[in-house]
Amino acid sequence: MKIVTTFEEARRGRGGLVGLVPTMGFFHEGHLSLMEAARDRCDTVLVSLFVNPLQFGPTEDLARYPRDPERDAALAAEAGVDVLFVPSLEEMYPHPPLTRVDVATLAAPLEGASRPGHFAGVATVVTKLFAGLRPDVAFFGRKDAQQLAIVRHMAADLSFPVEVVGRPIVRDVDGLALSSRNVYLSAAERVAALAISRSLLAAARAAEDGETDGSTLETMVRDGLSAEQGLVPDYARLVSAADVRPLDRLGEDAFLAVAARAGTTRLIDNVHLFVTDGRVEADPGIRLARPSLLGKGD
Ligand code: PAF
Repeated sequence: MKIVTTFEEARRGRGGLVGLVPTMGFFHEGHLSLMEAARDRCDTVLVSLFVNPLQFGPTEDLARYPRDPERDAALAAEAGVDVLFVPSLEEMYPHPPLTRVDVATLAAPLEGASRPGHFAGVATVVTKLFAGLRPDVAFFGRKDAQQLAIVRHMAADLSFPVEVVGRPIVRDVDGLALSSRNVYLSAAERVAALAISRSLLAAARAAEDGETDGSTLETMVRDGLSAEQGLVPDYARLVSAADVRPLDRLGEDAFLAVAARAGTTRLIDNVHLFVTDGRVEADPGIRLARPSLLGKGD
């Protein structure tokens, strides 16, 4: 595996179908499953590792965001990645950027409502990665479902010849959706956090059994979150998977999205609900058979 720091080096000497997995590092099995999907599908697998300051608000965790570049490089090499692109801040933003990519209406609800500017930061850096690395296929996790919808729209609106692929959420043995931020959780906070996946998966089962009323599904999730004292819920919403529009009724591909705080850590999770000819199939994600590499908190 080559480790490179410039766009120019990352474009050199590659062949065939080029797959990109954009990341902010501190890899877990969610990242590894994206790399594996890219490896299965593409001739050249490129992974970018850049903690993007543009997508962090002034009070967010940019400085303490978990980092371990050596471990990341070893895991990427083991996953069969060809090129690990680790740009410096200067390579990514040679000048303070005047241009922002804002997928306006999609960025407003859910995460956008409590993280102003976050999705413009994401869309801007992903635009730069698409423009500078020119992948044919790019792989994103469904855990960040709103981000996935925004990236799809951005790629279509700006005519990038990139296929954007969404992959299932990877869950730890106990159901917690993997996130680099899970390392912030204490053991007690982690136990409280399990109410998120538990209530989402229960609502997904109700949807598969025929419940299509949006507010009933949302209430099921909210009740599950409120029953857990260690959690402060932010939202539980049923939205369209295509454009994050709130849905009163489940009649198209959708996701039930949750954000909640456990201690000082904000967690998000969702369950995708695919609708074909009125039948609902939920994607519960992939459950690990062994505890994640990230460990279980302190
Ligand atoms: O999902 C992430 O890790 C980031 O938002 C991304 C897509 C790499 C952009 O910085």
